[in-house]
Amino acid sequence: RELYGVIGDPIAHSMSPLMHNDAFKALHYDADYHAFHVTPDNLEAAVKGMKAIGVSGFNVTIPHKTAIIPYLDEIDPLAEAIGAVNTVVRKGTKWIGYNTDGPGFIQSLKEDWKEDVTNEHVLVVGAGGAAKAIYYALAQSGVKQIDICNRTLEKAIALQQANPFHCQSKAITLQDAEECLAQYSLIVQTTSIGMHPNVHLQPISLKHLNVNAYVADIIYNPFETAFLAEAKRLGANIQNGLGMFIYQGAIAFEKWTGQTPDVKRMKQIVMDKLG
Ligand code: ATR
Repeated sequence: RELYGVIGDPIAHSMSPLMHNDAFKALHYDADYHAFHVTPDNLEAAVKGMKAIGVSGFNVTIPHKTAIIPYLDEIDPLAEAIGAVNTVVRKGTKWIGYNTDGPGFIQSLKEDWKEDVTNEHVLVVGAGGAAKAIYYALAQSGVKQIDICNRTLEKAIALQQANPFHCQSKAITLQDAEECLAQYSLIVQTTSIGMHPNVHLQPISLKHLNVNAYVADIIYNPFETAFLAEAKRLGANIQNGLGMFIYQGAIAFEKWTGQTPDVKRMKQIVMDKLG
């Protein structure tokens, strides 16, 4: 029986065990997935321990996504550019690190909105770790024009200057983003501001939104942020972060097992748990 898992701190509320164990069961795949509470001072020992006991692969969550990199044997180019790993795969005696967060977001867009997003004019709101994963993954997948706005402009400028996959890109203030919002056809909210307990807050006003634009938020708890609620009120189509979470898991599952899980079923089981 194979063993998989997720390491993080905190980890008790992770939905990954539920989602992956159900997918293993549905495919009659002989494996278990566990949540392991690993504090930063135990990270190195935990990674060595996983190898020693023959774990086949694992997910990595906050706060270890960057810190884990030195303990892995190879890093996929997208994960390397982002500087964060959320999925580790065992290949023989080696640990290979991937980032499936950004690709998971793109897959969710393709499923819920449209197949080809390369010609969209994208605005990424935020410049933290999640913004970086989405910005680089979109650029790597061929999206040509991606601007970034952030409260701390310097962080948006740093992302835009690194731009390893060479899209056309501008770094702008939140105020500029609000004023020139009408030019964007896809807006992606990646900041943490609308989460509990600040569910009434949003990083920018959507007053000048083009109602034909598609608006995504990476938060799924609350299920609909104030940001998404405003977009919906204005008539835009929206998606929350549940799809991104499900697809980052589905892509990891495929890398580990070579099998494609039933994403509808994965989504349903997480939705049932969210209540
Ligand atoms: P993550 O890894 O989840 O992206 P992060 O790296 O801490 O988390 O980034 C948090 C993002 O939310 C940043 O873009 C941050 O803006 P700053 O770079 O200016 O800090 C943004 N953010 C958090 N609280 C915010 C607030 N009250 N208003 C606007 N942006 C906020």
